[in-house]
Amino acid sequence: MWTKENIPDQTGKTIIVTGANIGLGFETALALYQAGAHVVLACRSQENATAAVAQLQAQQGTGTLETGMLDLGDLDSVKAFTNLFLQQRKQLHVLINNAGVAVPPASKTKQGYELQFGVNFLGHFALTGHLYPLLKATSGARVVTLSSMGYQRGVIDFENLRSEKDYDGMREYSQSKLADLMFAVELQRRITAAGDKVLSIAAQPGANTTALTRHMTAEDVATGIERLGGFMEPWQGALSSLYAATSPDALGGNLYQPDEDGYHGYPAHAAINENALDEMVAKKLWEFAEGVTGTHYPGR
Ligand SMILES: NC(=O)c1ccc[n+]([C@@H]2O[C@H](COP(=O)([O-])OP(=O)(O)OC[C@H]3O[C@@H](n4cnc5c(N)ncnc54)[C@H](OP(=O)(O)O)[C@@H]3O)[C@@H](O)[C@H]2O)c1
Repeated sequence: MWTKENIPDQTGKTIIVTGANIGLGFETALALYQAGAHVVLACRSQENATAAVAQLQAQQGTGTLETGMLDLGDLDSVKAFTNLFLQQRKQLHVLINNAGVAVPPASKTKQGYELQFGVNFLGHFALTGHLYPLLKATSGARVVTLSSMGYQRGVIDFENLRSEKDYDGMREYSQSKLADLMFAVELQRRITAAGDKVLSIAAQPGANTTALTRHMTAEDVATGIERLGGFMEPWQGALSSLYAATSPDALGGNLYQPDEDGYHGYPAHAAINENALDEMVAKKLWEFAEGVTGTHYPGR
């Protein structure tokens, strides 16, 4: 069983965690701070980020903490965050693409994309792309991107990314989490083809009690808990990200998730379903995202 006691010393490492003010991101930041890292909490609310820092400091980690303002639903905000970060920092050891939104009422990003596709995928695509030169320049750097079991039901509908046709919150969530997983795998393909050393790893946290259900009814949440056989506490779900971010055994292009049934347990390697390994769709998605975000990565 892999737990946070297995995290190697992170002293000297700079790690960005998006959406670190609550939930899985907070638990991820806490464990890394306790392991000695300099953790950057990249959040969309300064007030919430500052409150999270105070909560983390109360745990007396050996690392250091910093906040950064990042709204993944606005590509200008992503650019502003990365511009500042690139000015201030010479190294980035780990980027954890954790932030996410699930089944909100129909809504769009500032640039007009369906909110879940925009925040969960496009924003992180842009963030990673802008930071890639720094990751490449840092020995042993990793990008960890969070997916969900929901990816298995996902389909990328290129004709509906701005909700041109209709909106179905759960379908769009699955699409965004499939896009995240395809991104993690395709990024590793491109890194390998370019001869770079960065690792791109996917993590899936299982079923956890967090504010991700904020847009669901209490009845829907209760049904979900019953159907899945209970939810874990977020510290446990965060272990998948922590494993991907720190374990010497985690491999690029692979997915790590709770070992029992994907929803419960401790981090382990997981097979990736065919729908996330379709290279034609991955290439089309990549080119689409490069066009939208103006971000360019290593070629293939
Ligand atoms: N919980 C689960 O069981 C589960 C299962 C599968 C996958 N996941 C994935 O795990 C990740 C973390 O989710 P969680 O369960 O910890 O949910 P959470 O408690 O709701 O936390 C989500 C985080 O994302 C941030 N966020 C949302 N929209 C954002 C935006 N536009 N820009 C920047 N940050 C934004 C939130 O900030 P605010 O506090 O300001 O809203 C919050 O910090 C997500 O990627 C989710 O898809 C979770």
